[in-house]
Amino acid sequence: MTFGHQGILERTHDLGLLGEKRLSERRWGWWLRAMKLRLHQFLSKTGHFSSKQAVKEAVWAGEVTVNGSVVKDIAFQFKVSKKEVAYKGQVLRLPSEDRTFLLNKPTGVICSRLNPQERSLGKRSVFELFRDHVTPSEYERLVTVGRLDEDTSGLLLVTTSGGMVHRIASPEMHVAKVYRVTTAAPVAEEQRSRLAGGLDIELEVNGEVELYRTRPAEVSMVDPCITSLTLSEGKKRQVRRMFAALGHEVVALERTAIGGLQLAAYELETGEFIDMSGVDVEGVVLQG
Ligand code: URA
Repeated sequence: MTFGHQGILERTHDLGLLGEKRLSERRWGWWLRAMKLRLHQFLSKTGHFSSKQAVKEAVWAGEVTVNGSVVKDIAFQFKVSKKEVAYKGQVLRLPSEDRTFLLNKPTGVICSRLNPQERSLGKRSVFELFRDHVTPSEYERLVTVGRLDEDTSGLLLVTTSGGMVHRIASPEMHVAKVYRVTTAAPVAEEQRSRLAGGLDIELEVNGEVELYRTRPAEVSMVDPCITSLTLSEGKKRQVRRMFAALGHEVVALERTAIGGLQLAAYELETGEFIDMSGVDVEGVVLQG
């Protein structure tokens, strides 16, 4: 199937007037994705073609698809955030476009690059899951938005956007994170109150162990051994330390939400992820 030229004249010619220098990379990328572009404009901006003529020839040769359908009209107009453009089967993106994935993290992978010691111990890095889904340059830039322990599963954002990490994971943002905590023994009423009101946990600060009083949290019971805990802070191994302070052994820990972003909404098996590039993930998180 071939799409016809839509013929709607949008103000795409303004593009050249704005210029990258007048917009930050993030706003520029957002702005491009949010607006309609003509196919030849989009293709030229990807950096895959040596000239405007090469763009036209690729399109006329039927080598370019939009959402899987060949489009031979160089003036075909589309909303960048809504369509996937491919050249000879390879999906093309705008250079300033960050990649973001929503992963249902499995246990057994760590949220950092491996150091030689970890490598020799046979540890696995969460980034390896994305190796075949991003370019080498994107792979180098991938970071996690906050961290989950090796033995924690659940919702994890992985992105090339350092700005996203800052805006979602900075302690001062106090973005709520929801954990499903399975304990070996039932959690008593008095213990729920202590989790909710704040309790002292041990934290290592500059090599010294210090006591830290946790901020108020939301607590509800799914079952006597399964607690839903909502925290607005994220000290290292905080959930496990809070339960350890109560004398509880955590047998499974899963993150189920970050702000308004709910893992259940994406129906992902453990270890599966979806590509959220171009989706306003921050908007969804910060709405919650
Ligand atoms: N709290 C923990 O103890 N571990 C995690 O992975 C996340 C929060």
